[in-house]
Amino acid sequence: MSANPSARLIVGNWKMNGGLGLLDVLAAELAGGGWTGRAVVCPPATLLGEAHRRLAPLGVEVGGQDCHVAERGAHTGDLSAALLAATGARHVIVGHSERRAAYGEADLQVRDKTLAAVEAGLSPIVCVGDTAEDRASGRAVEVVTRQVGAVLDGALNGRPWVLAYEPVWAIGSGRAATADDIAEMHAALRAVVGGATPILYGGSVTADNAGEIRACPEVGGLLIGGASLRPDQFAAILRGC
Ligand code: 13P
Repeated sequence: MSANPSARLIVGNWKMNGGLGLLDVLAAELAGGGWTGRAVVCPPATLLGEAHRRLAPLGVEVGGQDCHVAERGAHTGDLSAALLAATGARHVIVGHSERRAAYGEADLQVRDKTLAAVEAGLSPIVCVGDTAEDRASGRAVEVVTRQVGAVLDGALNGRPWVLAYEPVWAIGSGRAATADDIAEMHAALRAVVGGATPILYGGSVTADNAGEIRACPEVGGLLIGGASLRPDQFAAILRGC
Protein backbone atom coordinates (compact mmCIF):
# COMPACT_ATOMS: atom_id res chain seq x y z
CA MET A 1 0.00 0.00 0.00
CA SER A 2 1.46 3.40 -0.85
CA ALA A 3 1.84 5.85 1.98
CA ASN A 4 -0.52 8.77 2.33
CA PRO A 5 1.71 11.70 1.33
CA SER A 6 0.19 13.97 3.93
CA ALA A 7 0.97 11.53 6.79
CA ARG A 8 4.18 13.26 7.63
CA LEU A 9 4.23 14.25 11.29
CA ILE A 10 6.10 11.61 13.25
CA VAL A 11 6.14 12.05 17.04
CA GLY A 12 8.06 9.90 19.51
CA ASN A 13 6.72 9.77 23.08
CA TRP A 14 9.43 8.43 25.34
CA LYS A 15 7.10 8.43 28.37
CA MET A 16 9.14 7.90 31.59
CA ASN A 17 12.11 6.36 29.78
CA GLY A 18 15.41 7.30 28.24
CA GLY A 19 18.39 9.40 29.16
CA LEU A 20 21.36 11.19 27.69
CA GLY A 21 22.68 7.91 26.27
CA LEU A 22 19.50 7.36 24.27
CA LEU A 23 19.68 10.95 23.00
CA ASP A 24 23.24 10.29 21.83
CA VAL A 25 22.24 7.15 19.96
CA LEU A 26 19.21 8.85 18.42
CA ALA A 27 21.22 11.86 17.29
CA ALA A 28 23.79 9.57 15.68
CA GLU A 29 21.06 7.54 13.98
CA LEU A 30 19.33 10.64 12.57
CA ALA A 31 22.51 12.48 11.60
CA GLY A 32 22.29 11.36 7.97
CA GLY A 33 18.85 12.96 7.48
CA GLY A 34 16.89 11.31 4.70
CA TRP A 35 13.29 12.18 5.53
CA THR A 36 10.95 14.86 4.32
CA GLY A 37 8.29 14.68 7.03
CA ARG A 38 8.35 16.53 10.34
CA ALA A 39 9.94 14.80 13.32
CA VAL A 40 9.19 15.51 16.97
CA VAL A 41 10.65 13.78 20.04
CA CYS A 42 8.96 14.11 23.45
CA PRO A 43 11.45 12.94 26.09
CA PRO A 44 11.03 13.28 29.85
CA ALA A 45 10.94 16.98 30.78
CA THR A 46 14.36 16.79 32.45
CA LEU A 47 15.90 16.05 29.04
CA LEU A 48 14.06 18.68 27.00
CA GLY A 49 16.78 21.33 26.92
CA GLU A 50 19.51 18.89 26.04
CA ALA A 51 17.29 17.14 23.50
CA HIS A 52 16.58 20.47 21.83
CA ARG A 53 20.29 21.35 21.70
CA ARG A 54 21.24 18.00 20.15
CA LEU A 55 18.27 17.45 17.85
CA ALA A 56 17.41 20.92 16.54
CA PRO A 57 20.52 20.99 14.30
CA LEU A 58 19.22 17.76 12.73
CA GLY A 59 15.84 19.32 12.01
CA VAL A 60 14.06 17.44 14.81
CA GLU A 61 11.75 19.35 17.15
CA VAL A 62 11.07 18.50 20.77
CA GLY A 63 7.94 18.51 22.91
CA GLY A 64 6.77 17.93 26.46
CA GLN A 65 4.51 15.11 27.60
CA ASP A 66 2.12 17.16 29.73
CA CYS A 67 1.64 20.68 31.07
CA HIS A 68 -0.24 22.39 33.87
CA VAL A 69 -3.32 24.46 33.08
CA ALA A 70 -1.91 27.54 34.84
CA GLU A 71 0.76 29.88 33.56
CA ARG A 72 2.63 29.97 36.89
CA GLY A 73 2.03 29.66 40.60
CA ALA A 74 2.14 27.43 43.65
CA HIS A 75 1.98 24.06 41.89
CA THR A 76 4.87 22.06 43.33
CA GLY A 77 6.28 19.58 40.88
CA ASP A 78 4.26 20.76 37.90
CA LEU A 79 5.41 22.42 34.68
CA SER A 80 3.63 25.19 32.82
CA ALA A 81 3.54 25.28 29.04
CA ALA A 82 5.68 28.44 29.21
CA LEU A 83 8.40 26.56 31.13
CA LEU A 84 8.37 23.85 28.47
CA ALA A 85 8.58 26.46 25.72
CA ALA A 86 11.60 28.03 27.44
CA THR A 87 13.55 24.78 26.91
CA GLY A 88 13.08 25.06 23.16
CA ALA A 89 10.05 22.76 23.06
CA ARG A 90 7.49 23.57 20.38
CA HIS A 91 4.92 20.91 21.19
CA VAL A 92 3.26 19.30 24.18
CA ILE A 93 1.22 16.14 24.47
CA VAL A 94 -1.98 16.65 26.47
CA GLY A 95 -4.72 14.25 27.52
CA HIS A 96 -2.70 11.08 27.04
CA SER A 97 -4.80 8.12 28.19
CA GLU A 98 -2.12 7.17 30.71
CA ARG A 99 -2.65 10.55 32.41
CA ARG A 100 -6.43 10.36 32.07
CA ALA A 101 -6.30 6.93 33.79
CA ALA A 102 -3.63 7.58 36.42
CA TYR A 103 -4.59 11.13 37.41
CA GLY A 104 -8.25 11.24 36.50
CA GLU A 105 -7.67 13.96 33.91
CA ALA A 106 -11.08 14.73 32.50
CA ASP A 107 -12.16 16.35 29.23
CA LEU A 108 -12.39 19.86 30.67
CA GLN A 109 -8.92 19.69 32.18
CA VAL A 110 -7.56 18.47 28.86
CA ARG A 111 -9.29 21.41 27.20
CA ASP A 112 -7.68 23.84 29.66
CA LYS A 113 -4.24 22.29 29.13
CA THR A 114 -4.75 22.59 25.37
CA LEU A 115 -5.54 26.27 25.74
CA ALA A 116 -2.60 26.80 28.11
CA ALA A 117 -0.34 25.23 25.50
CA VAL A 118 -1.51 27.43 22.64
CA GLU A 119 -1.30 30.54 24.84
CA ALA A 120 2.36 29.68 25.48
CA GLY A 121 2.99 29.30 21.77
CA LEU A 122 3.20 25.51 21.81
CA SER A 123 1.38 23.22 19.41
CA PRO A 124 -0.68 20.85 21.59
CA ILE A 125 -0.92 17.20 20.58
CA VAL A 126 -4.30 16.31 22.04
CA CYS A 127 -4.77 12.59 22.67
CA VAL A 128 -8.13 10.86 22.55
CA GLY A 129 -8.97 7.18 22.58
CA ASP A 130 -11.52 4.49 23.33
CA THR A 131 -11.08 1.70 25.88
CA ALA A 132 -11.69 -1.96 25.07
CA GLU A 133 -15.02 -1.65 26.90
CA ASP A 134 -16.03 1.37 24.81
CA ARG A 135 -15.29 -0.56 21.66
CA ALA A 136 -17.01 -3.76 22.82
CA SER A 137 -20.16 -1.79 23.61
CA GLY A 138 -20.16 -0.06 20.22
CA ARG A 139 -19.48 3.36 21.78
CA ALA A 140 -15.94 3.96 20.52
CA VAL A 141 -16.79 6.74 18.05
CA GLU A 142 -19.17 8.40 20.50
CA VAL A 143 -16.59 8.44 23.32
CA VAL A 144 -13.78 9.72 21.16
CA THR A 145 -15.83 12.44 19.46
CA ARG A 146 -17.00 13.60 22.92
CA GLN A 147 -13.38 13.90 24.04
CA VAL A 148 -12.57 16.03 20.99
CA GLY A 149 -15.72 18.11 21.29
CA ALA A 150 -14.67 19.20 24.77
CA VAL A 151 -11.40 20.55 23.44
CA LEU A 152 -13.05 22.35 20.52
CA ASP A 153 -15.39 24.03 23.00
CA GLY A 154 -12.39 25.88 24.30
CA ALA A 155 -12.18 28.14 21.24
CA LEU A 156 -8.78 27.34 19.77
CA ASN A 157 -9.49 30.22 17.42
CA GLY A 158 -7.66 28.82 14.47
CA ARG A 159 -4.38 28.32 16.32
CA PRO A 160 -2.38 25.27 15.25
CA TRP A 161 -2.95 22.05 17.10
CA VAL A 162 -2.70 18.34 16.43
CA LEU A 163 -5.11 15.56 17.32
CA ALA A 164 -3.92 12.03 18.09
CA TYR A 165 -6.20 9.00 18.07
CA GLU A 166 -4.73 6.43 20.41
CA PRO A 167 -7.03 3.51 21.21
CA VAL A 168 -6.25 2.62 24.83
CA TRP A 169 -6.33 -1.10 24.04
CA ALA A 170 -3.70 -0.66 21.32
CA ILE A 171 -1.16 1.20 23.46
CA GLY A 172 1.74 -1.01 24.44
CA SER A 173 -0.23 -4.13 23.56
CA GLY A 174 1.56 -5.05 20.34
CA ARG A 175 -1.89 -4.99 18.71
CA ALA A 176 -2.38 -1.88 16.59
CA ALA A 177 -5.86 -0.99 15.40
CA THR A 178 -6.80 -2.39 12.00
CA ALA A 179 -6.74 -0.19 8.92
CA ASP A 180 -10.56 -0.35 8.84
CA ASP A 181 -10.88 0.78 12.47
CA ILE A 182 -8.39 3.58 11.91
CA ALA A 183 -10.15 4.74 8.74
CA GLU A 184 -13.54 4.73 10.48
CA MET A 185 -12.34 6.68 13.51
CA HIS A 186 -10.27 9.16 11.55
CA ALA A 187 -13.20 9.90 9.23
CA ALA A 188 -15.39 10.57 12.28
CA LEU A 189 -12.73 12.80 13.80
CA ARG A 190 -12.22 14.72 10.57
CA ALA A 191 -15.94 15.42 10.47
CA VAL A 192 -15.68 16.95 13.96
CA VAL A 193 -12.48 18.98 13.63
CA GLY A 194 -12.75 20.16 10.04
CA GLY A 195 -10.01 20.62 7.50
CA ALA A 196 -6.59 21.68 8.70
CA THR A 197 -5.79 19.80 11.90
CA PRO A 198 -3.44 16.84 11.43
CA ILE A 199 -4.86 13.65 12.97
CA LEU A 200 -2.19 11.21 14.12
CA TYR A 201 -2.62 7.53 14.92
CA GLY A 202 -0.87 6.01 17.93
CA GLY A 203 -0.87 2.54 19.51
CA SER A 204 1.66 -0.22 18.82
CA VAL A 205 3.12 1.47 15.76
CA THR A 206 6.33 -0.23 14.60
CA ALA A 207 8.62 0.03 11.61
CA ASP A 208 6.73 -2.98 10.22
CA ASN A 209 3.20 -1.55 10.33
CA ALA A 210 3.91 2.19 9.98
CA GLY A 211 3.61 2.22 6.19
CA GLU A 212 0.20 0.54 6.18
CA ILE A 213 -1.12 2.82 8.93
CA ARG A 214 0.18 5.97 7.22
CA ALA A 215 -1.66 4.91 4.08
CA CYS A 216 -5.04 5.07 5.83
CA PRO A 217 -7.23 8.02 4.78
CA GLU A 218 -7.05 11.03 7.11
CA VAL A 219 -3.98 9.73 8.96
CA GLY A 220 -1.72 12.78 9.21
CA GLY A 221 1.14 11.07 11.00
CA LEU A 222 2.05 8.78 13.85
CA LEU A 223 2.48 9.00 17.64
CA ILE A 224 4.94 6.35 18.66
CA GLY A 225 5.73 5.02 22.14
CA GLY A 226 7.83 1.88 22.47
CA ALA A 227 9.33 1.98 18.98
CA SER A 228 10.53 5.55 19.57
CA LEU A 229 12.86 4.18 22.26
CA ARG A 230 14.61 2.21 19.53
CA PRO A 231 16.44 4.81 17.45
CA ASP A 232 16.85 2.41 14.51
CA GLN A 233 13.09 1.83 14.40
CA PHE A 234 12.23 5.49 14.86
CA ALA A 235 14.65 6.44 12.10
CA ALA A 236 13.24 3.78 9.79
CA ILE A 237 9.69 5.04 10.36
CA LEU A 238 10.80 8.63 9.79
CA ARG A 239 12.68 7.77 6.63
CA GLY A 240 9.50 6.13 5.33
CA CYS A 241 7.96 9.62 5.14
P1 13P B 1 3.10 2.36 22.00
O1 13P B 1 3.62 2.81 20.66
O2 13P B 1 4.18 1.83 22.90
O3 13P B 1 1.91 1.47 21.88
O4 13P B 1 2.58 3.69 22.76
C1 13P B 1 1.75 4.55 22.09
C2 13P B 1 1.61 5.78 22.90
O5 13P B 1 1.02 5.77 23.96
C3 13P B 1 2.22 7.00 22.37
O6 13P B 1 1.75 8.14 23.04
